[in-house]
Amino acid sequence: MKKATVLSLVLLVLSAFRLMEFSSSAIPAYFPRPVQEEVWQLDSNKVELGRVLFYDPQFSADEMISCASCHSPYNAFAHTDHAISHGVFDSIGFRNAPALFNLAWQSLFMHDGAAHDLAAQALAPLNSELEMASSVELLLKRMNLSPLYRYLFQKAYRDSTPSVARALESLSAFQLSLISTKSKYDKMRSGLLIFEDQEERGLALFEENCAACHPAPLFSDYAFRSNGIALNEELRDSGRYFVTAESEDLYAFKAPSLRNLKYSFPYMHDGRFTKLRAVLNHYSPKNGDLSKSPLKRVLSEKEKTDIIAFLATLNDPTFVFNPRHAYPKWILSFNTKSYE
Ligand code: HEC
Ligand code: HEC
Repeated sequence: MKKATVLSLVLLVLSAFRLMEFSSSAIPAYFPRPVQEEVWQLDSNKVELGRVLFYDPQFSADEMISCASCHSPYNAFAHTDHAISHGVFDSIGFRNAPALFNLAWQSLFMHDGAAHDLAAQALAPLNSELEMASSVELLLKRMNLSPLYRYLFQKAYRDSTPSVARALESLSAFQLSLISTKSKYDKMRSGLLIFEDQEERGLALFEENCAACHPAPLFSDYAFRSNGIALNEELRDSGRYFVTAESEDLYAFKAPSLRNLKYSFPYMHDGRFTKLRAVLNHYSPKNGDLSKSPLKRVLSEKEKTDIIAFLATLNDPTFVFNPRHAYPKWILSFNTKSYE
């Protein structure tokens, strides 16, 4: 074998070690193939750079807002304080911040699918006057001034000069690493436990009434539809129509995953419901009128309670409290001096 071939083989093996071991092991066999193929081979150094960027408020105009301000790990990377997200200088946004996990199975992002590239998506909040009111120039300038970023870029790219394209790629790698597959439901699917009777009944009711739009195991097909909620008169959000201008997309929104609902309230694109009971009362109103609901039959109060018990099996505390997704505390003790 030529020397060069041996060397490239060695490099290949070495780089394989840098790939995140959890990528493949965290994805159970009963999951469909991810659409974002990079998820199989995430580089741990890029994920770490992306994590630091995600939690860094210095990229917003007032240096107060980071991605994590609206996408908090303890809320499954959604936001629970307000129905509509708040950005720089206390400005009020337009929609509820969605939870971020299992993004590798999605090809269109935002409630209306306006973004199709996860890496480029980050430019939207960065540039939005209502969110971070920043710019790529500011991002580049602040990364260049930081020994920490020079260190992280060196590790991730073997080149200490920060670049916007690489920052976006790393942010996307971090977000793709947010995989939630360890709920009670998953343990049941893997044969590690069996459901209580109530959860079992809830699952059957769920299959009958909800799974058409929220199919297992992702609990969404991520398609755009109306689920019959009334127009929010204040926001007058036209949903997917905003992107396609097709009349059938008027008031259609992306069906969200129903994993981690315990952490990601309030619900719907405008955060109008805080309680799952209220969601169930939308799908099956107490007066029995299904004219605004996609459901084919009325649910009794007991059946609603059973469905809520089933939905609770989709919460994944190991995901929400995973220290690898949390604020990177180590940067507080990072020794700046040695990288200046
Ligand atoms: C001020 C609050 C706020 C900040 C800051 C913010 N986001 Fe968001 N994010 C939102 C809202 C609101 C939406 C939904 C927007 C829509 O549907 O039009 C969203 C949507 C998203 C989505 C699409 C998720 C999906 O399921 O379709 C991703 C990914 C995302 N944000 C990542 C980021 C990243 C990365 C940053 C930092 C660079 C960031 N966000 C900063 C509020 C925020
Ligand atoms: C016709 C398709 C359809 C059916 C059937 C359906 N949903 Fe939905 N669901 C959606 C869509 C679309 C949204 C997003 C609406 C929005 O953002 O305003 C949604 C949103 C939700 C949310 C809010 C999640 C969040 O993170 O904001 C919950 C909870 C929910 N559905 C539960 C259910 C349950 C339980 C059932 C069965 C009783 C059900 N859905 C049946 C399409 C459907």
